[in-house]
Formats: sequence, structure tokens, C-alpha cells
Amino acid sequence: MPEKLKVVEEGKAKIKVSDESKISKKLPVFYNPVMKLNRDLSILLLNSIPENNLNIALPLAGSGVRGLRFLLELKKSKMKTLYFNDYKEDFYQILKNNFSLNKLPDKEIIISNDDANLFLLEGFGFDYIDIDPFGTPNPFLDSAVKRISRNGILAVTATDTSALAGTYPDACMRKYWAAPLRNELKHEIGIRILTRKIQLVAAQYDKALVPIFSYSKDHYFRVFFRCQKSKSDVDEALKEHGLLGIAGPLWLGSLWDEKLVSKMYKFASGDLKLFLNIILEESKIDTCGFYDIHQLCKKNKLQIPRYDLLMKKIKDEGFKVSRTHFSTLGLKSDIEEGKLLNILKN
Ligand SMILES: C[S@@+](CC[C@H](N)C(=O)[O-])C[C@H]1O[C@@H](n2cnc3c(N)ncnc32)[C@H](O)[C@@H]1O
Repeated sequence: MPEKLKVVEEGKAKIKVSDESKISKKLPVFYNPVMKLNRDLSILLLNSIPENNLNIALPLAGSGVRGLRFLLELKKSKMKTLYFNDYKEDFYQILKNNFSLNKLPDKEIIISNDDANLFLLEGFGFDYIDIDPFGTPNPFLDSAVKRISRNGILAVTATDTSALAGTYPDACMRKYWAAPLRNELKHEIGIRILTRKIQLVAAQYDKALVPIFSYSKDHYFRVFFRCQKSKSDVDEALKEHGLLGIAGPLWLGSLWDEKLVSKMYKFASGDLKLFLNIILEESKIDTCGFYDIHQLCKKNKLQIPRYDLLMKKIKDEGFKVSRTHFSTLGLKSDIEEGKLLNILKN
């Protein structure tokens, strides 16, 4: 039976996708509308960095929606060449159909229909690589870190959050070489475990990957790294691996470049701006983990305070404090637990 397709619009792009309500990797044209924010943030990030004339690689391009949006929504001088790749049988036809729906700018576009690792290894290096797989990014990390250029940006999505966030600790140990924790910090711990794993893969090639923007949302984690090719930078990064309580080893350093987040926030609008507002505030606090105020109050038999009043009291004591996107019940702060408990008791 011929497949039923429908046209959808995302950002400035139009694409033809399978007319199915259930999102599955078996769909002939894979498009997940939930990942719109993932693509919105990639565009915002690329438009917020100073570099132009980039060679951009999408080794797992799917329907091509991300690339189409890059062509239509990135600043004019941002991109030199855009590489689309996917191993799907009818990938050329899918892209051809979707290109014909849009009025595309005059840019160099290169399309290939290979295994992602082959595509990356046959390339000469890219300034931006987006690893957006089904599940774990593990199979693509080695070739991606080999081909990311000096000062380039590697973006990685992981949707196997059940391993990273502690539902399957043995799987996390096997795949990410660390122990997760299934508690209120599970998402932050998971993203830090993922970060360290990717950094270790890069360290073998004397490349330091420094996180510049990270977040956890819905069913996935996302980390953008800046690549520095220097042995001493690698050594510095590795010094920031360690345990958080009994979880880890994981990345203990910052998950964000505050200046970049502030730029992204400035250019954002709507829901994206609300999301970035929280991340901007937490990016200013250099701590690992956060306080789940509900848990803390429950454990100490205290009444749950109003968050705005509590945050004011913490600030009045001279500490930094913010909400965290990792949990609606959490507060990120550099205050010690004992002092926080004193505030909660008074
Ligand atoms: C999650 S989808 C990508 C979604 C796309 N990046 C987007 O933003 O809409 C993953 C894609 O990777 C492709 N894929 C999976 N394994 C691959 C491999 N080893 N080589 C090339 N493509 C692969 C699948 O065909 C699928 O289209």
C-alpha cells in the first residue's frame, strides 16, 4: 500500500512526513515534533556564537528537518557547507521531496546515503557535528570526536535516559562507565555521566570537550561541547571528573558557558525564553547538584516554604540561588545544607 504522507511546518521549514500519530523509528519518514525544541535550541546556539562560514554535518539527518531549518533560519553568513547523511534506503528521495517544498537559499549542500560512521570518517573535518540518534550516541562518538575540528562544536543527544538516570544501573555502567543514582538528582547526574563518557572518548585523541550548553528535557539529554585540541586542556578537563556522593564518576565542572546562554536568552522568544531564563540563572551558580526542598523538608519534618520567600532569605544571607530546569522542586545554591536548614527552621 502506498504510504500516506502529510505536510507539516516547523519553524520556517515545510516537510512531508508519515501521516501516523504514533512516533516510531520504523516510520518511513522519521519526524518527531517533540524534538522541535531540540532543533530550536541548535539554531539559537549557532546564531549566538561568533563564528561564521561553518562546515556543518548532520550524520543522522532523518527527514532533513533540522538541515532545512538550518538553511532557512541560520544567519546568512553562518554556514559554508551543509552535509546531510542518513542510511535510510530512500533518503535521497525523502530529501528531494522536502527540498521542493521550500524556497532554499543558495548554499552548498552535500547529501550522502551511508552509515554515519563511514560518512564522518570519509569527511575532512567539520565545525559542527550533530549526533541525534535513536537511543544511545555511543556508536557514533569515536568517529564524531575524530572529525570535530579545533574550536568546533559537537552536539550530542541521548534518549536512553533510563540507563543514565538510574533505572538500569548495570546498563549505565556498561555503556557509560559510571554508577547512576535513581533519586531526585537523577537527571543532572545522568547528564554529567554522559558528559564525562564523551569527554573520555575525545581525550584519547588529545581533544578536550568542554560543555557550553546542556539540558535535560522530556525523554532526552542534550550536550553541546566546544572542542579544544591541546593536551593540557584535556588534562584540565579530566581533573574535573569525580564522584557526587556515591554516583559517578561524572563531570563536576560547569554545564554551561554563561556568556553564551545569556546571548541565547537575549535572542529567544516565547516558551524558549522561559526555558532559557531558568538555565541562565542556574548557569551563574557553579555547583554540582541542587536541593530538592520538598525532600529536605520531609526528611527534617519541616513545613515546605514559599520558594520566592526562601530564595530571598538565601540571597539575604549572601548566597546565590536559582530554580533549576532539572526539577520543579529543586533550588540550586552555593549555600551549605546546615545553613539552609537553619533558614528553613526559622
Ligand atoms: C532520531 S532520527 C534523526 C532525527 C533528525 N536528526 C531530526 O532532527 O529530525 C535518527 C536517524 O538516524 C538514522 N540512523 C540510525 N543509525 C544510523 C547509521 N548507523 N548510519 C546512518 N544513519 C543512521 C535513522 O535512519 C534515523 O533517520
